[in-house]
Amino acid sequence: MTTPSIAVTPLVFPEDSGINFGASVSNIDIEKLTDADFDTIRDALFTHQVLVFKNQHHISPAAQYELVRRFDPAATSYGHGKTLDAKRSVLHPDLKTIPHQPQVQVIGNGPVAEYEGLRDIRLKHPHHQTFHATRIPPEDDLDFTRFYRWHIDAALYGLAPPIVTALLAVKVPGGRRQTCRYDDGTGDELDVPLGTTAFVSGETMYNILSDEDKEFVRSTKIEYAPHPYIWMSQAKSRSDGLGIVSQGLELPLDDLPPIEEDKIQILPMCWRNPATGNLAVQVHPSAVRKLHLADGTVIDDLAEVREIVHRLQRPGIAPKMVYSHDWEEGDLVLFHNRGVLHSVVGAFAEDEVRLFRQCNVAASALPEGPLPVTAAA
Ligand SMILES: [Fe+2]
Repeated sequence: MTTPSIAVTPLVFPEDSGINFGASVSNIDIEKLTDADFDTIRDALFTHQVLVFKNQHHISPAAQYELVRRFDPAATSYGHGKTLDAKRSVLHPDLKTIPHQPQVQVIGNGPVAEYEGLRDIRLKHPHHQTFHATRIPPEDDLDFTRFYRWHIDAALYGLAPPIVTALLAVKVPGGRRQTCRYDDGTGDELDVPLGTTAFVSGETMYNILSDEDKEFVRSTKIEYAPHPYIWMSQAKSRSDGLGIVSQGLELPLDDLPPIEEDKIQILPMCWRNPATGNLAVQVHPSAVRKLHLADGTVIDDLAEVREIVHRLQRPGIAPKMVYSHDWEEGDLVLFHNRGVLHSVVGAFAEDEVRLFRQCNVAASALPEGPLPVTAAA
């Protein structure tokens, strides 16, 4: 009897959609992944950026980690290392570590009596009201929502950004839909499933820029803040979730844990896909601090840096560019963390239980930027 071969099927979107990524993968046993299986997944991931595997309820945290680890066998520690221990980090309340598989985190909402060695935990789905400078009025909160924070999963200080993240939906409450509002004066909004994870393509973000802007993003580097998630812990986000409003609320560097200069990251604005060579604008907009231009100029006016980055990224999160995954229990979504931006969306009631497992590992090397012009010719 022959085993059916792995099927990779691109997701289908309406004709006027700008979404050109995403595929579903079937006929695969992630619990017993062979080298050949992995090669197929790797090719599919770098081609389609977001892969959806249905009916994966059964996979163990160890198998989830193994799938992620295969992308970077030399990497072993969770993408944020131990920085989540810092109580002041904005990420601290959102993640609980599985004791027997510390690269896998439990995230979600509501009370959970027991799960994978964690007992009596209470999860809290991030709500935009805790992070945005303005908020949707409480009376509209059931029907309307926002992108919480567009980001790359990355510590951006010391540790290299993970190549992939694997998200498993264990428990999904649901059914409702909400309208995600940008609230930025454009009137942009998007109908989304409750608690969706939204994805946009960094490659599209690059491809829709003018030639002049493409040249700028190819040649400019971003300097990230040291201890960025503590640094931004008092600051507030724009209403579209794409970066911080400049109100001077970032913590002074003296108030951060000790800063090791060699851990500060200055990364290209564009990252190169290791399989296709395509460029993606990959910038974590909330954590940016300075721009290093090709001619050696450093722009360190934070408000100006943020305006430049927002102008370049905003077209890429327009409603028709956003893939909002409609989670079903058992969905495993594997995404190319160096090729997409993603955001949590939506609001749950306090006791509405949503349980997810998230896994990524800090990479063994930094992402590659554009090739020098001579080498690319
Ligand atoms: Fe994330």
